[in-house]
Amino acid sequence: MKDDYSDKNPDLGRLYAEHLDTVKARHDDALEKSGAAHAVIFSGAPRYAFLDDNTYPFRANPHFVSWLPVTAVPFSYIVYSPGEKPLLIYYQPKDYWHTVPAERDKCVLIGEIDDAAQAFGIERINPTTTLNLLHLARGSKTAYELECMRLASRRGADGHRAAEAAFRAGASEFDIHQAYRAAVSLGDDELPYGNIIAINEHGAVLHYTDLERSAPAESRSFLIDAGAQVHGYASDITRTYSAADANFNALIDRMDALQLAIVDGVRVGADFRDLHLETHRLLAEVLVDADLARGAPDDLISSGTTSAFFPHGLGHLLGVQVHDVGGHLADESGVTIDPPSGHPFLRLTRVLEEDMVLTIEPGLYVIDMLLDNLRGSPAEGQINWDTVDWLRPFGGIRIEDNVRVLSGGSENLTRDAFAAQE
Ligand code: GLY
Ligand code: MN
Ligand code: MN
Repeated sequence: MKDDYSDKNPDLGRLYAEHLDTVKARHDDALEKSGAAHAVIFSGAPRYAFLDDNTYPFRANPHFVSWLPVTAVPFSYIVYSPGEKPLLIYYQPKDYWHTVPAERDKCVLIGEIDDAAQAFGIERINPTTTLNLLHLARGSKTAYELECMRLASRRGADGHRAAEAAFRAGASEFDIHQAYRAAVSLGDDELPYGNIIAINEHGAVLHYTDLERSAPAESRSFLIDAGAQVHGYASDITRTYSAADANFNALIDRMDALQLAIVDGVRVGADFRDLHLETHRLLAEVLVDADLARGAPDDLISSGTTSAFFPHGLGHLLGVQVHDVGGHLADESGVTIDPPSGHPFLRLTRVLEEDMVLTIEPGLYVIDMLLDNLRGSPAEGQINWDTVDWLRPFGGIRIEDNVRVLSGGSENLTRDAFAAQE
């Protein structure tokens, strides 16, 4: 069997048993408040490409994966009735319907149904209250989940090390990607998201997933956003490297210090919206120090200058899903917390709770489409366009760690994983 990192912790089995108790308790609560007696959770069905008989890579229902580490099996069900042992029904081509409770009117079904037969008569499919309760609960991770995520971080860090070495040896994006995959021992479809392996200007393309087959004449910079998974739990890690340019390296160091300062603010009770806005204030200082912009932080923020350099959110919840559910949920009724005005892409707006795991991923990029939008506005005079021209060939910088929320601070899964390599 290939190394999937789960054997690095002999305690995982015991932790899983405790995790299952928590998952059951969450469903007991959600079922009671939903007026239901049974939960039927469908792993999902593969989807066919248009006019084709090949399917897209299968992604199991995340609710199914949070019950058990089975990520690749479609057409399977978990049937859970409070007080009873949960039942796992693996895909059996014939006759698996009879194992579902007869009381269909007391069942809720959780999963994506694209054929009525998959629901076998259950009418309450994905009720909002049930899902909101489960999504809220999934925000805080169990000890088992935390350990899976620590291992996923170690796995990802091993891939990052191999990728950096390949970059420094002059490899192409494609070959760096292969070095990463070999180091983590995961196929493309097993990665939690498509790796972003970006040399030079490609670092400014936020979701760059092309992989150039040949190396550029000069490799100046490298931005890698790549994760791994263990038992279906993800890591989501970004690092940026300078090949040789000392000034770009100094800017990476500034962004690294900024990122750590924001991580320092992570604790129970912190409002993630405030951390995001604080990131813009610190970024304004970096822009001024790097001679990319001039002006007071508040002016650089209100003019849209910081947003043009840093157009995405500070981070998001992480777990079975890379962008884990429930980031905007205020309560079980489904009331949501809006992102701050002018920051629509922030995926997490909640007040932080113990054992949430989230990403902290500030960035700084030269995205001409966004910068050009500022021409003719007050921001145009704030920006030092010559320095922008200097930075453009390096693409951009992002540094992303996975952080667990604690009462007086945080645990940095990513930094710990890199430190454990040395
Ligand atoms: N890799 C996706 C993200 O950072 O959110
Ligand atoms: Mn992320
Ligand atoms: Mn990422």
